[in-house]
Amino acid sequence: MAVDILCVGIVVVDAVGLYVDEWPREGSLLLFDRVEQHIGGCPANTALGLAKLGIRTGLVAKVADDGLGAFVKEQMRRHGVDVRGLKTERGPTSTSYSFIMLPRSGDRRIYHTLGCNGTFAPKDVDTKLFKGPKWVAFEGLSLMPRLFGANLAKLLKAARKAGARTAGDTALNSKLEDWSPVFAGCWEHFDVFFPSEEEAHRITGPLKPREVCRWFRDRGVKIAGVKLGSRGCAVETDDGYEEVPAYKVKCVDTTGAGDAFMAGFLTGMLKGLHPVEAARLGSATSAHCVQAVGATTGIPKLNRVQAFQKRAKRLA
Ligand SMILES: Nc1ncnc2c1ncn2[C@@H]1O[C@H](COP(=O)(O)OP(=O)(O)OP(=O)(O)O)[C@@H](O)[C@H]1O
Ligand SMILES: [Mg+2]
Repeated sequence: MAVDILCVGIVVVDAVGLYVDEWPREGSLLLFDRVEQHIGGCPANTALGLAKLGIRTGLVAKVADDGLGAFVKEQMRRHGVDVRGLKTERGPTSTSYSFIMLPRSGDRRIYHTLGCNGTFAPKDVDTKLFKGPKWVAFEGLSLMPRLFGANLAKLLKAARKAGARTAGDTALNSKLEDWSPVFAGCWEHFDVFFPSEEEAHRITGPLKPREVCRWFRDRGVKIAGVKLGSRGCAVETDDGYEEVPAYKVKCVDTTGAGDAFMAGFLTGMLKGLHPVEAARLGSATSAHCVQAVGATTGIPKLNRVQAFQKRAKRLA
């Protein structure tokens, strides 16, 4: 299958146990109502989001030879995501897994195992797959220690050499004190870098959105952005700096909002929109995401996102 946007990085299986309001004592058992299993991990969410919008996409990631890995493959195939780059690792490892305990209060607790994501390295990436896509998006960058610095730079360069443009996004990693090794030698190889505000601050320090964008651009990123949650996003290109507001919608779950944003933004870039217009499409896509429970549940076909944008403009 031909792929227009290839997503590279982590994949996680999220098991959401609901409702978990108390903790068992050692050696005892407590019941909860039910468990839901979902795909997680930024590039996997973005790939599913792109597929739902109707964009030809693929996922390059690593799973283990276990039931969770089989679930990832089945979900990706079902949504039409190309899985040629989804590698199965054999041996004593597991597919990355989060057990999310959701209490009725909504304030969830998570147990997470890195599984195969912890060893995801350049050798797991078939760079032949970079030939053909117009964009290669590297996401979850702070969570893959073997893809820090020179190793990441190598893949970014390979993607550009194959004729693709490159995009980057991060994920929160509270254990990582110093984020500079993640991106050492990488900035000039990003066409787009678009983290969330909290993640950006781990890299740049506590700067204003305009200064964050400048910080990335000063280091060689061509199009720099920062996602600002319900405040929208900011983006700087050669044409200047602009802030794009979020759409006013009824938010029920922000899981995957940033990944849905990337799906919409990259779709806009693929279609030749100016990056500011692409950011508006990203905002509109994530506005659909936050109105439903789950990282990709609410994402419709592209024409419906565009129709929503037209309606919102008329009402403004
Ligand atoms: N409450 C909201 N209402 C409308 N849009 C929202 C809301 N929250 C987030 N968004 C949209 O989603 C985009 C991305 O959200 P956010 O900045 O939280 O990304 P993120 O932190 O990367 O998210 P994630 O947790 O998925 O990684 C925002 O730029 C905005 O357009
Ligand atoms: Mg994010």
